[in-house]
Amino acid sequence: MNPGTSRLGGKVAVITGAARGMGRAIAARLASEGAAVAICDIQAELAERTADELRQSGAQAAAFKLDVTSFDEAAAVTDRIERELGPVGILINNAGWDKAELFVESGPQTWDTVIAINYRGVLNCCRAIAPLMQARASGKIISISSDAARVGSSTEAVYAGCKAAIIGFSKTLARELARYRINVNVVCAGPTDTALLREAFAGREKMIESLTRAIPFRRLGTPEDIVGAVAFFASADADFVTGQVLSVSGGLTMAG
Ligand SMILES: NC(=O)c1ccc[n+]([C@@H]2O[C@H](COP(=O)([O-])OP(=O)(O)OC[C@H]3O[C@@H](n4cnc5c(N)ncnc54)[C@H](O)[C@@H]3O)[C@@H](O)[C@H]2O)c1
Repeated sequence: MNPGTSRLGGKVAVITGAARGMGRAIAARLASEGAAVAICDIQAELAERTADELRQSGAQAAAFKLDVTSFDEAAAVTDRIERELGPVGILINNAGWDKAELFVESGPQTWDTVIAINYRGVLNCCRAIAPLMQARASGKIISISSDAARVGSSTEAVYAGCKAAIIGFSKTLARELARYRINVNVVCAGPTDTALLREAFAGREKMIESLTRAIPFRRLGTPEDIVGAVAFFASADADFVTGQVLSVSGGLTMAG
């Protein structure tokens, strides 16, 4: 595909948590539509391997070690990405983490980690990148939330709270940035078969079975299921769409 004529040709996309899982699949899709992709992840070696593999399939991809919980790191990595790949036009906040446990059995240390990665991480990356988009009066910000934010999810109380916070934050940011022609939208994944799901529910596999039964399509999502919705929000096709929340979850959530 000629990047100059494809849907995301000439764009630079930052994808957090892109070393594996949904982030990796999103990066592969955005690259296949012509974007140069910054594979940002706390797992530096895995990010390098992912970027290598994407380059072998013809993508323009580079790996950057990034811990989204640090604002200073988010700002420094953004600076490097702009110098190495060019102006960032697309930000995908995808990095996330969870540990399934009942709220009454959980404690402040776990809450802090869950909040730092899932909510503070989004704030850090938006705060580092949005001003640059604002100065250029152009940009797309998409955050990966969860159906847990919309309907709740037993054993994921703090995580669900963070994912709901992302929705309120994104709607507000969408209002603040609309005058700069920056679109801010949210994609809510449902239970999706990734390492995170398997690790978070280790020892609670029965919960995965019951979640699957609750999905009208009667299967877990795959990382590839989510990429089309993200690519749409990242493209000019969504230029007049902002502050929206779209579930990609086999019908688990049918919000009005
Ligand atoms: N898998 C599911 O069922 C599911 C459901 C709803 C939403 N989500 C959300 O989708 C997103 C992707 O999840 P996934 O299932 O692909 O998980 P995953 O674990 O396969 O991938 C997440 C990536 O984020 C990275 N990461 C973790 N902490 C980080 C940090 N501090 N800084 C930078 N990178 C960090 C990990 O190294 C990993 O590569 C997450 O936001 C997750 O909350 C997942």
